[in-house]
Amino acid sequence: MALSKPFPSIVKVLVVCCFTIPLSQQKIVRDFVKGVSYGNFAETDNERLNTNILQSLSVRNLTQCEGKCLINGNCFSGNFGKNKNQHGEHDCQLLADNKFTSAQLMTVDNSFQHFSVASPCDQKPCRNGGTCVPVYENDSYACECPKLIIEGKDCEEVIWTAFWWYDANTAWPDWEEDVLKYDFGHCNSTDPYCFGRLPWSAVEDSTEMLAVDSENTIYKWRFNSSNDVAHAVWHAFHDHQLTYYQDVLNGQEWAPDVLSGNSPVRVQDSFMYREQHGIRSILLDDDNCNCKSTLSFGRRLCFDDGSSYRKGVDTLYDPYCNMPRAGVGLTLYFRSLY
Ligand SMILES: *[C@@H]1O[C@H](CO)[C@@H](O)[C@H](O)[C@H]1NC(C)=O
Ligand SMILES: *[C@@H]1O[C@H](CO)[C@@H](O)[C@H](O)[C@H]1NC(C)=O
Ligand SMILES: *[C@@H]1O[C@H](CO)[C@@H](O)[C@H](O)[C@H]1NC(C)=O
Ligand SMILES: *[C@@H]1O[C@H](CO)[C@@H](O)[C@H](O)[C@H]1NC(C)=O
Repeated sequence: MALSKPFPSIVKVLVVCCFTIPLSQQKIVRDFVKGVSYGNFAETDNERLNTNILQSLSVRNLTQCEGKCLINGNCFSGNFGKNKNQHGEHDCQLLADNKFTSAQLMTVDNSFQHFSVASPCDQKPCRNGGTCVPVYENDSYACECPKLIIEGKDCEEVIWTAFWWYDANTAWPDWEEDVLKYDFGHCNSTDPYCFGRLPWSAVEDSTEMLAVDSENTIYKWRFNSSNDVAHAVWHAFHDHQLTYYQDVLNGQEWAPDVLSGNSPVRVQDSFMYREQHGIRSILLDDDNCNCKSTLSFGRRLCFDDGSSYRKGVDTLYDPYCNMPRAGVGLTLYFRSLY
């Protein structure tokens, strides 16, 4: 028995028991009281969702495996073994996860076929790296937007994209020796920190950077290849290139637009990206020595005795001689102007 639904993937309906099938909008109905249950599954050949197995069974065919999923209230997808097992049947793994929210766990495996309750998520409605979360109750979906400042139901409107962050109260990750270690796109938006760089595709003179700290101070800079300070910051964030002590000291001012909070108390005309006590760190300030800085994270780049607590992030507004420390959060975003 099959309901025709305007759905592109392979679709099938399973009647576990009895009566008529309600013409509901749902792709899965489990009504064990009325005895009417059906599921509408979409299959992907040669793939397996490599996650915790709810229940492992041996079945005759795919339809039977999907039927077993239907009668297990926690099952939303499964892996069906295409080859016969030692019982002359097929392996059937029932899973609570689904291929949308656990997309990174989908593995190529020629001996399996994966099936998931059909969902509008199959049509990939979420843009800009948004994660589609199926809402099975009413055959709808929600997009979880990545760590961006974006808007729109389908995350379609990108305003700013985060490339570097350190959530307040994150313990310093002792194995990290470089605050700009990772290529853009390496981090997951749920990670507590991301020591990432700007994407290769970003173009220097048409890229802006937005910095938001945990005191809600917000500064915006525009990169500028004619400004030696801005250019060195670009080389660090885009090209992973170091700038040593006195390389860019009292150069051209690179002033941020202050969108929230107080303005820097000194001209920001000096920059370093270099190693200090085992950590490649960043300092944008007035004199290559940690006071009155705007961007300062990793190690303190002046008067650092190597004490373990001198690691972390400093606030954007630093009228004193604050150091990178625990408890401060910072996120750096970028956007292209054209
Ligand atoms: C799958 O196996 C079930 C249970 O043995 C059987 O009733 C059904 O006809 C089979 N379906 C197909 C498509 O082979
Ligand atoms: C579906 O249910 C969710 C969660 O209850 C709700 O937020 C959403 O608005 C509903 N969508 C539709 C299309 O009814
Ligand atoms: C992001 O998540 C995936 C899957 O959990 C993991 O393999 C990967 O290492 C994570 N990336 C980072 C930077 O932690
Ligand atoms: C770029 O920097 C130079 C030197 O500081 C400055 O004269 C120029 O106005 C800046 N350009 C822009 C677009 O900000």
